[in-house]
Amino acid sequence: MPVPAATTPPAAAPAPTSGLAPAREPAWARPREPAQRVVLVTGGSRGIGAATVRRLAAAGYLPVFTYRQEAKTAQALVEALRMQGQVAHALACDVTLPGALEALFAQVDGIGPLVGLVNNAGILGTIARVDDLAQEDVSDVFACNVTAVFETSRLALRRLSTRHGGPGGSIVNLSSGAARTGGSVEMVLYASSKGAIDTFTLGLAREVAAEGVRVNAVAPGLIDTEIHARAGQPQRLTTLQSSIPMGRAGTADEVAQAIVWLLSDAASYVTGSILAVAGGR
Ligand SMILES: NC(=O)c1ccc[n+]([C@@H]2O[C@H](COP(=O)([O-])OP(=O)(O)OC[C@H]3O[C@@H](n4cnc5c(N)ncnc54)[C@H](OP(=O)(O)O)[C@@H]3O)[C@@H](O)[C@H]2O)c1
Repeated sequence: MPVPAATTPPAAAPAPTSGLAPAREPAWARPREPAQRVVLVTGGSRGIGAATVRRLAAAGYLPVFTYRQEAKTAQALVEALRMQGQVAHALACDVTLPGALEALFAQVDGIGPLVGLVNNAGILGTIARVDDLAQEDVSDVFACNVTAVFETSRLALRRLSTRHGGPGGSIVNLSSGAARTGGSVEMVLYASSKGAIDTFTLGLAREVAAEGVRVNAVAPGLIDTEIHARAGQPQRLTTLQSSIPMGRAGTADEVAQAIVWLLSDAASYVTGSILAVAGGR
């Protein structure tokens, strides 16, 4: 399986001696083999998650992504990448099931050392006024959009944080422009779950900043994926388009590029950021 070859740097000239002991290079700064750089993407079978898996594979990471039921869709993505000489692994996992994430991380450990996590799996949930919501509507959305993010992040930090002997790494959360606006009519529930993600991103970023782990979020605006139609709102993309300064919905790939940049060493001094990818909205 061809993976991008590690480039051999030109032989460096001997460094002038300062008399001081050489600084020990932190583990996270040492070059790693591209194929060993595992990034876990939750909900990677379609939409923004799938676009992120494609971009990660193209950038030389080894993406491991989850799907819930659509094994054929997930396998088709793995196969499409394989045809291009790239590798990804698909693992079945409902992030809301008890014990599922512990089992998932155990599987990821068997594939290779984790360097990053993309908390992408998310649902719009029931679209209704707050006074028409059932208690389980609320718990379903928070279970997927918030509780699972705490759990994946906890499990990732135990592998990444230098506090736990890890090499450092990067976490990117999927927020939403709705966190700032409170959501359009009847989407307060979803918007509130993404507001929790913004707070989680800011707080966790500070908590682990000195442990080699960066934590950021992207806040997409209106993005052309199946999430709208699957929540019974297929018309959202056309009806909301005119409210976007750039005059169009974004693509999943436009969000994926921001995610991969935040994950990468190119964003080495960026933590606690919430990057809007929203066409000016
Ligand atoms: N599209 C937008 O306009 C937009 C805007 C702002 C933020 N976002 C956020 O971006 C993220 C991705 O959205 P998207 O538009 O790409 O959505 P999507 O096309 O509906 O894809 C969602 C992904 O999450 C997975 N997922 C959902 N519930 C899950 C669960 N319980 N366990 C495991 N996986 C689960 C889905 O897997 P299955 O295929 O198995 O269902 C799917 O792979 C979400 O967090 C969303 O809130 C999207």
